[in-house]
Amino acid sequence: MRIAISTGGGDAPGLNAVIRGAVLSAIDRGWHVLGIKRGYMGLLGEDEVIPLTRDTVRGIGHLGGTILRTTNRGNPFEYPVRQADGSFVHVDRSDELMSNARNLGIEALITIGGDGSLAIAQRLVEKGMRVVGVPKTIDNDVSGTVVTFGFDTAVTTAMEAIDKLHTTAESHDRVMVIEVMGRDAGFIALHSGVSGAAHVILIPEIAWQIEKVCEHIMMRDAMGKKFAVVVVSEGVKFQGEQGVMGESMPGQAVRVGGIAERLSKAIQERTGKECRSLVLGHLQRGGMPTGYDRLLATRFGGAAVEAVANAKWGHMVALQTPHIVPILITDALKSQKRVDPTHDIVRTARRVGISFGD
Ligand code: F6P
Repeated sequence: MRIAISTGGGDAPGLNAVIRGAVLSAIDRGWHVLGIKRGYMGLLGEDEVIPLTRDTVRGIGHLGGTILRTTNRGNPFEYPVRQADGSFVHVDRSDELMSNARNLGIEALITIGGDGSLAIAQRLVEKGMRVVGVPKTIDNDVSGTVVTFGFDTAVTTAMEAIDKLHTTAESHDRVMVIEVMGRDAGFIALHSGVSGAAHVILIPEIAWQIEKVCEHIMMRDAMGKKFAVVVVSEGVKFQGEQGVMGESMPGQAVRVGGIAERLSKAIQERTGKECRSLVLGHLQRGGMPTGYDRLLATRFGGAAVEAVANAKWGHMVALQTPHIVPILITDALKSQKRVDPTHDIVRTARRVGISFGD
């Protein structure tokens, strides 16, 4: 059996642990493994295809990033091609990808990616490719799995930043506004905000008002607590607004971000308190995975190989505690996972005095 592995979309801590888990499990079965570099682009002649051996994956389980590189611009069905005038057109190169995979003798592909890469995987399955998915994202917004690997590390990084902001905020009697990743899902903000003991948490799933945020900060002020830490998820919008968008490259999803600076100015204007903002950004995606993420990622890698052995094409591995099970990618993609505003973590946050600005 000759299988291939690729990593696509934004990176997440734990990718290397999945690769290692899958490669060693495949070798254990006597299979050969190829690594496709830079997501699906590696099968379009844009990058190399390398053999993955016991030696290649030795000592990588604790490393951040991905030894296979990644991209969020390599959709083979809508491939961005630059024209002479600098503009881009999108072309379907999926047939070319299928034939390149066949020529390389690839019998099955394990693709590690978020909802975008998994949706592409499903379209390849429909064209006859034998694909098994592994869900990956620090945002934790993939349905059907309790959690994705990378999330725990991102939450830990954000929580440590919040811890550090507390001391400087308190020393200066300031309001510190920290923006964390997550796109339309507020999991990173919620989990890091509660574990880091933030005073206000704003997430896209809970409608908020600037007046309520300021009321909470001024209530603390009146009680002698002159500082505050506000955690805001990057996908949060001011009422009636589109949200803050950034420029993205052709073929990429729209970039979100920049809410912290706007929020910080709005709080300063309304409360008269000195505010500062911080965008934590890609620090959340970098660095060594936590023990939890290494373990989950290694289990996902092993389970993906088992799914290949059981011909579970069009499935992705998922954590349904305490087991890892294969589920249909189409089922996972039916809806995106979001924070449930009635969830116990939200209720706990409220009980310990955290405001959601509502
Ligand atoms: O989906 C993961 C994620 O890190 C989001 O939280 C964030 O909005 C986005 O990727 C950033 O992507 P990029 O690295 O392309 O700027």
